Amino acid sequence: MSLSPAFLDELRMRTTLSSVISRHTKLQKAGREWKACCPFHKEKTPSFTVNDEKGFYHCFGCGAHGDAIKFLTETRGLPFIDAVKELADTAGMQVPAPDPQARERQEKSASLRDVVEAAADWYVEQLHSNAGAEARAYLEERGIADATLRAFGLGFAPDDRGKLEEALKEFGKDRLLEAGLIAQPEDGRAPYDRFRSRLMFPIRDRRGRVIAFSGRIIGLKEETGGKPKYLNSPDTPIFDKGRELYNFDRAGAASRDTKRIIVVEGQMDVIALDQAGFGEAVAPLGTALTENQLALLWRVDEAPILCFDGDSAGQKAAMRAVERAMPAIRPDRTLRFVELPAGQDPDDVIRAGGLESLRRAFDGPLSLDAFLWNYETARAETASPTGRAKLKARLNELANAIGDSELRAEFGREFRQRHWNAFGWKKKEVDFVRRAIADTAGRSALTGHDLYIRAVLLGLSRYPSVIADRLDQVQALAANDTMLGRWRDLLVAASVERPGLDADMIETILSQSGIETVDQRDLGRGLGFSFFFGKSEPEVAIRDLEAAIDTIARSQELDANLETVKAALAAATEEEDFEGIWNRESQRRKQLIEEKQRLHDELETLGEAAE
Ligand code: UTP
Ligand code: MN
Repeated sequence: MSLSPAFLDELRMRTTLSSVISRHTKLQKAGREWKACCPFHKEKTPSFTVNDEKGFYHCFGCGAHGDAIKFLTETRGLPFIDAVKELADTAGMQVPAPDPQARERQEKSASLRDVVEAAADWYVEQLHSNAGAEARAYLEERGIADATLRAFGLGFAPDDRGKLEEALKEFGKDRLLEAGLIAQPEDGRAPYDRFRSRLMFPIRDRRGRVIAFSGRIIGLKEETGGKPKYLNSPDTPIFDKGRELYNFDRAGAASRDTKRIIVVEGQMDVIALDQAGFGEAVAPLGTALTENQLALLWRVDEAPILCFDGDSAGQKAAMRAVERAMPAIRPDRTLRFVELPAGQDPDDVIRAGGLESLRRAFDGPLSLDAFLWNYETARAETASPTGRAKLKARLNELANAIGDSELRAEFGREFRQRHWNAFGWKKKEVDFVRRAIADTAGRSALTGHDLYIRAVLLGLSRYPSVIADRLDQVQALAANDTMLGRWRDLLVAASVERPGLDADMIETILSQSGIETVDQRDLGRGLGFSFFFGKSEPEVAIRDLEAAIDTIARSQELDANLETVKAALAAATEEEDFEGIWNRESQRRKQLIEEKQRLHDELETLGEAAE
């Protein structure tokens, strides 16, 4: 039934929330508000507050939050409309009559609920009658205690085509058909009971009302003879499989104490866990988790734990749920994971005596980023640069699937960091670069040329992509200082061997090396290349860095030429055409020195650019 927002506002306005709540929970006045021990979770000191002005209650302990209507639906399990009626009565308001269509829909679903409820009772009766002997034996064999099977309302559908229909004939065939309890064969023959010779699991909605069933064949482990192991009710006006989670009503309440909710694959797992003391488990009904189910889970916990079988199929199923969840993931809405031994479900683990290990696993679930990293690296080929690059691309793709922009950026960074830790420089190399920077930073003994080499190495450490683009020239950078030489070799080797040579990582190293102070203290001494400074535009910095490398490379070439000229001049005295050679080589020498001076000026200009 749809009530107008105006009516509901009026109702909230005329309702004093504290008087509604005080009928159920003892309230103490606290300033303009009321305080109490929270009725939604166990506590000794009050963290539950009621604000009459705003018409809202809020618990700082468990996060329970809502208005008067919500309070009644949550504490008393009242349907929304009944809560509204009760409040309207007190407030002296008339609930508007529903339109005829809505009334019809409501009546229909009410009577469907009655049918399903009656069927559930009948199945329970059958389980405890003579007909249920085999089913009871099977449950016992599976270690399900009497208290457990009663708590879950387990039942039995006898091996008969018409017993249920007969037992519930007062509701009429149409209702039974509509509730999915009997099925109409396509050939037009008479309808027959859908569930036969099956152990019956009632599926309840979030308020605890039975809305459908899942029926398991007795005994057999895998499906045989074309019979599915589990048979579920079809979707009906009161049951939409993708919107329900098995045991959500009880698990939601339990999760208030345990502060977590666990998602397992099957209803037998839910039951086995409950019996072992984990009441906070739910299961989707034979499908991958839907967006609706995820939203339901996030209402009770910000990081539901997906528990999955460690074999490849189980991991893939978990991954499918994750991919579906990614767009909706936020800092306060994520997933966690527990991986079980391959080929085992929680029920198997418990029965094999693994309760303690299960407890530990639930206490320390994997985070989403760790799960994704494990999943992808387990499937990646990381021996080759191509494989590592693919892995990186895939991790990027996953991070980018996150809708929340902050979290997306954090995941991107986290994956780069993990990739770097796994495949980037090893610690001793990082330490070396750090030492090289610190060591050469304050060294006044560096010659003019080495000062420029060091400048370029700093630039390359900050913009490593340039190394690959100028590999030959970088390799040929001639340093007199041995520390600079090793630094250069390390950069070249890293660029060749590691695809993960990534500016972010270098940035981390540089900031750990105190480069920011190096900038000012030492490099400021006449040098101020754009590529020293974090605030520079990367395009400008890279362009300047490449220009500096080109200049130094050319300058080194000139040095080599000058050496040849010098040798030629030295040898000229022996020659006949002494004067000719002397003139020619002197001329060349002059040109070379001029060009070198020009290059030096260029470099100096570059080095002033950012000052
Ligand atoms: P599993 O085949 O893993 O069964 O199906 P299980 O939960 O371990 O059950 P037991 O221990 O053999 O009794 C996992 C879930 O998938 C759904 C059911 O909800 C089941 O709990 N399912 C499975 C179906 O809906 N139909 C099927 O035919 C099989
Ligand atoms: Mn099982």
